Amino acid sequence: MDSITIRKPDDFHVHFRQDEMLAAVLPYHEQQFARALVMPNTTPAVQSALEVVGYRANILESRNGSEFQPLMTAKLTQSTSPDDILYHAEQYGGKTTAFKAYPVGVTTNSSDGVSDFKALYPVLEELESFDLVLCIHAELPGEFSMDREAKFLPQVDDILTTFPDLRVVVEHVTTLESVDFVRRASEFGHKIAATVTLHHLHLTLDDIVGGSLNPHAFCKPIAKRWADREALRQVVLSGNPSFFLGSDSAPHVIERKECDCGAAGIFTAPVLMPALTQFFEENVPSEAWVTLLEKFTSVYGANFYKLPLNKSTLTLVRDEWKVDDLRFVDDTGGIDIVKSFLSGQTLTWQVASDRD
Ligand code: NCD
Ligand code: ZN
Repeated sequence: MDSITIRKPDDFHVHFRQDEMLAAVLPYHEQQFARALVMPNTTPAVQSALEVVGYRANILESRNGSEFQPLMTAKLTQSTSPDDILYHAEQYGGKTTAFKAYPVGVTTNSSDGVSDFKALYPVLEELESFDLVLCIHAELPGEFSMDREAKFLPQVDDILTTFPDLRVVVEHVTTLESVDFVRRASEFGHKIAATVTLHHLHLTLDDIVGGSLNPHAFCKPIAKRWADREALRQVVLSGNPSFFLGSDSAPHVIERKECDCGAAGIFTAPVLMPALTQFFEENVPSEAWVTLLEKFTSVYGANFYKLPLNKSTLTLVRDEWKVDDLRFVDDTGGIDIVKSFLSGQTLTWQVASDRD
């Protein structure tokens, strides 16, 4: 097989940032995806219904003639009220698809995050009643970094049992425990799903600190053990509909990665569909790999979010190319560099065309 054509994919977790960075990173998603769920941890954060429509307009204006559609999120903070949810649901055409909860201080731009989920239950009740999705960065601050994700799961469990009709996404799962938890809870009938990133299918902690230090592989949640990566690979390759692509592509300029106090986040946008295609082809021993890839990138997520499946397609061809970094002109006129995941490596598939 030298070419595959699949239903155009969606990315259910991406960081586009703002201004020049937004304009520089958006083309990668326009080329590969029909829609993407855009995270709200910008500065300032996207919180109000008005900020959602404003940020959405910025993204739409930054497009280069494509039909790409941003799906919007708002940041849930400790001071979000049930009335805020009502406002999001009913004002400005209800452009908010999901609310994103970051436990306080757990990742990039989350100092205004949630410290007490129970105190926000009236807000979650309102989300449930409007059938809005709750996306959780499921890590417990203050715990040992390798244990933060597993230690957060009881709180997810409590949310699921308290709000049986609330759709909950555990974002960027990285552990065997989370995979088991989401698989069992969805089999039990809870409205739960998990996003899986390309980089967590590739990396373990050893890629960050096992040899020489690699700040470009540093992200939250941190990549874990071989057994954790294996659990992620197996659940994705098994075609479980509760696990779908959320890339968590998170660009930071090189100076913010290669420094004291380096930022968490991996910029995967340039390689997402080529590298995922290669991953499925290499790991599924039959021609079913194309269908499994398509379900992971273009079907399961849309179904969970109750969105129509995309009608457009994406074609990838077997054609080698070398991954390069992103360079763009910033607001001072200087050249900014964002290092790409798999930078310098040769990939075997590339995007050929995108028909809308
Ligand atoms: C993300 C970012 O840079 O905004 N960083 C990351 O390491 N994943 C935030 C997040 O999703 O945690
Ligand atoms: Zn993220």
